[in-house]
Amino acid sequence: MIVITAASGKLGTALADAFKAKSLAGQVRLAVRSPDKLAARKAEGFEVVAADYDDPASLKAAFAGAETVVLISGAGTNDIRTVQHHHAIEAAKAAGVTRIVYTSATNPVSASRFDWAKAHEATEAELKASGLAWTILRDNSYFSNNDLLFANAKASGVLPFPGIDAKVAYVSHEDVADSIVGAVTGAGHAGKVYEIAGDEAWSAVELAALLSELTGKEIKALDVPVSAFEDQFRAMGLPEWVATGVGSFYAALGAGEYAATSGDVALLAGRPSTGARAYLKAFA
Ligand SMILES: NC(=O)c1ccc[n+]([C@@H]2O[C@H](COP(=O)([O-])OP(=O)(O)OC[C@H]3O[C@@H](n4cnc5c(N)ncnc54)[C@H](OP(=O)(O)O)[C@@H]3O)[C@@H](O)[C@H]2O)c1
Repeated sequence: MIVITAASGKLGTALADAFKAKSLAGQVRLAVRSPDKLAARKAEGFEVVAADYDDPASLKAAFAGAETVVLISGAGTNDIRTVQHHHAIEAAKAAGVTRIVYTSATNPVSASRFDWAKAHEATEAELKASGLAWTILRDNSYFSNNDLLFANAKASGVLPFPGIDAKVAYVSHEDVADSIVGAVTGAGHAGKVYEIAGDEAWSAVELAALLSELTGKEIKALDVPVSAFEDQFRAMGLPEWVATGVGSFYAALGAGEYAATSGDVALLAGRPSTGARAYLKAFA
């Protein structure tokens, strides 16, 4: 049995779809805070159970009888996330799980401009010392993080970004999901760290040029300070820790921390990563 935590999110949804596409739904248990959200998945053959990262007993029960847990990283400040991931690792040990497949992030080091990299660094270290088998997938930036920017660019003619020449090896949620399925079902992935980054990388200048071509309207990239992004997040009503945390993510992108491409999506998913042209077509 394979358990997926945080199964109601965008990645959890793509991952359940990817297992279903391989006719593996019957081997997958979706663990989620509110099982009602995923009730329809039962008809597809999945088990659906309750599990909250803040409730260790719920995790232990959700992991009972499982061989593999896909631990999708949580949401919250570094302290909260690190404790939540600790709860999941301890529950996996208690439930007799063999391997955890963890979704980390690119450049998970304290020195990263991305503040929440610290939680990934701490969880990777805890996993490696846990005595369990593990596989770590370090996810690059999702294309969809920029969906609002792409949609607005068509109307305004401007694609704002903090560091418009910095390349980012974006991936789609489907790239990450298909890579996880490969890491879970394939042999020889225990004890491995994979870089789930695109096999190409794009700067905001290049994305603006692609959007111009696809929309037939001139769109220019505009360098803006990270503080402008943070102000925008505050204006959207996001709490301060989210505004600065996501701001720090864009600071890392704009400084080139997410530029390195990788062949690991092709290795695990058996197909190339999603290209920018294919992703941006939806915005044309
Ligand atoms: N690489 C990137 O660009 C990038 C971008 C954003 C996030 N991330 C990370 O990747 C993860 C998955 O991304 P996503 O796009 O699927 O995020 P998402 O759509 O925001 O989903 C977040 C998921 O976390 C669950 N969750 C939150 N708190 C929880 C708790 N205490 N216990 C159990 N589940 C909890 C949510 O459950 P509910 O439905 O109950 O709220 C939801 O299923 C995120 O959580 C984050 O750590 C990566």
